[in-house]
This record gives sequence, C-alpha cells and structure tokens, in this order.
Amino acid sequence: MHLKKILITGGAGFVGSNIAIALKRHFSGLEVAALDNLYRKGSELNLPRLSENGVKFIRGDVRNPQDIALSGKIDFLIECSAEPSVLAGKDGDTDYLVQTNLYGAVNCAEYCRKNNAGMVFLSTSRVYPIKPLVNCNFAEKPTRFKLSDKQEVAGLCSEGVSEDFPMQGARSIYGATKYAAEIMLEEYRQTFSIPVVINRCGVIAGPWQFGKVDQGIAVFWLASHMFGNPLKYIGFGGTGKQVRDMMHIDDLTGLVCLQLKEPAKFANGVWNAGGGREISVSLLELTEICGRITGKKLPIGSEPETRYADIPVYISDTGKIKTCCGWKAELTVEKIIEDIYIWLKDTPAAQKLLKG
Ligand SMILES: NC(=O)c1ccc[n+]([C@@H]2O[C@H](COP(=O)([O-])OP(=O)(O)OC[C@H]3O[C@@H](n4cnc5c(N)ncnc54)[C@H](O)[C@@H]3O)[C@@H](O)[C@H]2O)c1
Repeated sequence: MHLKKILITGGAGFVGSNIAIALKRHFSGLEVAALDNLYRKGSELNLPRLSENGVKFIRGDVRNPQDIALSGKIDFLIECSAEPSVLAGKDGDTDYLVQTNLYGAVNCAEYCRKNNAGMVFLSTSRVYPIKPLVNCNFAEKPTRFKLSDKQEVAGLCSEGVSEDFPMQGARSIYGATKYAAEIMLEEYRQTFSIPVVINRCGVIAGPWQFGKVDQGIAVFWLASHMFGNPLKYIGFGGTGKQVRDMMHIDDLTGLVCLQLKEPAKFANGVWNAGGGREISVSLLELTEICGRITGKKLPIGSEPETRYADIPVYISDTGKIKTCCGWKAELTVEKIIEDIYIWLKDTPAAQKLLKG
C-alpha cells in the first residue's frame, strides 16, 4: 500500500507526537497531520516540535466527527487520543473518559470507513481484568515481585500475560473504555473490511511525556528525583516491589512503522506490545536507577494500602508479535531513564511543568 497521508489523533500527546515525527522521518513524502484538543497539560509544548518536523497540527476533538473530517482524505489513522489515567472516572465522573476513549475511537473508525482507510489503535494492557492479575502466583524477591512459573490462569506464565488471558471480570473504568473500543473496532474490521491493528501496550516511556502521579510513571519518578518532589511507594505493603514492563517510545514507533508497511499481517486479533520480562522494573529498582542517573538520593515515603485498580506485577508476554514479525523491544530501562534525563535537562519548559 502506498501511503500518502496519515492522521494521528491525540497527535500532540506523548505517544502521538513521537509517532508523528517518526513517520515523517521514516516514510519520505508522507503527509502527516496531528489532531488534538490539548486536553493534556504539556501537550501544547509538543506543537513546536510537530511544526519543525513538518507535521500539520489540527486543533480538534475526537468527540466531534466534523473535527476529524478537517483532516481531509487519509490512507491511515493512528488513534492515540485518550484520557489515559487508570484512576480516571473513579470519582464517578466518567463522561469525558467514555466520550473520548470509546466514542472518540468509534468516530475515528467511522472516518476510516468513509475514507476506506486503515487504523492503528493504541490500546492498553489495562484491558486485562484485575482480579486474576492480583491473585497471580508471585514470589517476593529482595527488590521486586517475580511471577512464578506455575500459574492457575490461561495466558499467564513467568513470561507475563499473553493475548490468551481470560477477559471476564472488571478492569477499571479506563480499561473498560479501551476494551469496549477494541470490541467496536473488531466489528468495524469484520463488517466493513477495514484493516484495524490493535496494540495492547504495557507502560510506554520516554522523552516528551508529561508524567504525573497517575500516568507516566518513568518521567514522574525521574523528575521528582531531579527536582526533589516528594515520592512514596503506594500499595502492596508500601515496599515499592510492584513491577511493570516498560517500552521505550522509539521501540513502539519502530513497531508502528512495521505495521504500516504490511497492515494486512497485523489486521487480525490483538497484539501485546511492551518491554516484556527483560525490560521490566520495580519502583524500588527505578529509584536506584533514577538516583544513579541524577546523582540524587531521595527519601521515599510509604503507604501500605493498595489503591483502586492496582496490580502487583504486569509483564507483557510479547511472544505472539515476535513470532509474527520478529519485533521485540530492545531499549533497556536504563536507556529510557537516561533519554528522559537528557531531554528534561535541556528543556526548560518541561522542567517548569514537572517541577511540581
Ligand atoms: N503512556 C502509556 O504508558 C500508555 C500505555 C498503554 C496505552 N497507552 C495509550 O496510548 C495512547 C496515548 O497515550 P499517551 O501516553 O500519549 O497520553 P497523552 O495524554 O500524552 O496523549 C493523549 C493525547 O490525547 C489528547 N486528547 C485527549 N482527549 C482528546 C479529545 N477528546 N480529542 C482530541 N484529543 C484528545 C490529549 O490532549 C493528549 O495530547 C492512549 O490511547 C493511551 O490509552 C498509553
């Protein structure tokens, strides 16, 4: 498929802006437009980068189909807009979350149908239900919880959670909006023969992420070390041993480029994408890495009680995508934190926002 024009919704956000710029570099002559309503604090700081890299910015909202249509004829749409916090909606105010994450994604699919265009959807590991993840078998090691080889649930082993994990049960309101969107996109794929690629991502991190306590943990943790902002280990006894896999944004952009070259190969089922077991970290280990890179040691508080929707260990089992196309995340947690550090040191506007 010869790509002429791509629209990235949520294109001023962390993932969207990095994908937009990577595509401009990777596909010569490709027109890339980024649509965003600048809901996320910090996304406005990505606008100069988009413009310098030849990405056209459209101020618009995925909740309004007529805003999406401002992009004109497109060949592909990459849906990166969201309220991405797992804590969103917990206060009872679910309107923005549902309207953006679910209806916004459906509006994007509808625009693809009308344009005969393909779609990549940035989904999340948070679509997997919480209870079986909380009840998984894990051992407590000196610096982290470690998944045991023996598990009671299908799709779970010491390599992490695969796409075969059972989907029954609650998953947070955020996770439910993303899963509901996946279900609708599957219908668009089947009914209208639109190539839809669904990537279920674990934690994504890197430069130009405006991390906060409930979303963007790598930047939040590093920035707190740089600026002396207070930090605490929350949940699971307050020891900081909870683990996540982490994927450098450059590994993700590499995957999306592969998928755009051969969409048919990926336009079925769903794909877990993440750092996997080898690129994973506990908060305790993250503290050590941030301390080493910044040269600062921060006293970290402790809150033993576990928060809403939290889980002790999440690792993406990425065996399926590796078998399909050979893709595997390569960049380590150290490299992720170093890249964030270099970016933040050189970007006063980001420092101002993240100083707290
Ligand atoms: N960052 C992660 O660790 C992670 C992990 C898994 C999945 N994801 C998914 O990746 C996608 C991108 O996340 P991110 O980390 O870049 O978040 P982000 O908040 O940096 O980017 C999302 C962008 O969407 C925009 N937006 C919000 N509501 C909108 C609306 N109604 N109309 C138009 N734009 C709107 C925001 O202004 C922001 O720029 C999301 O779909 C998220 O669910 C992210």
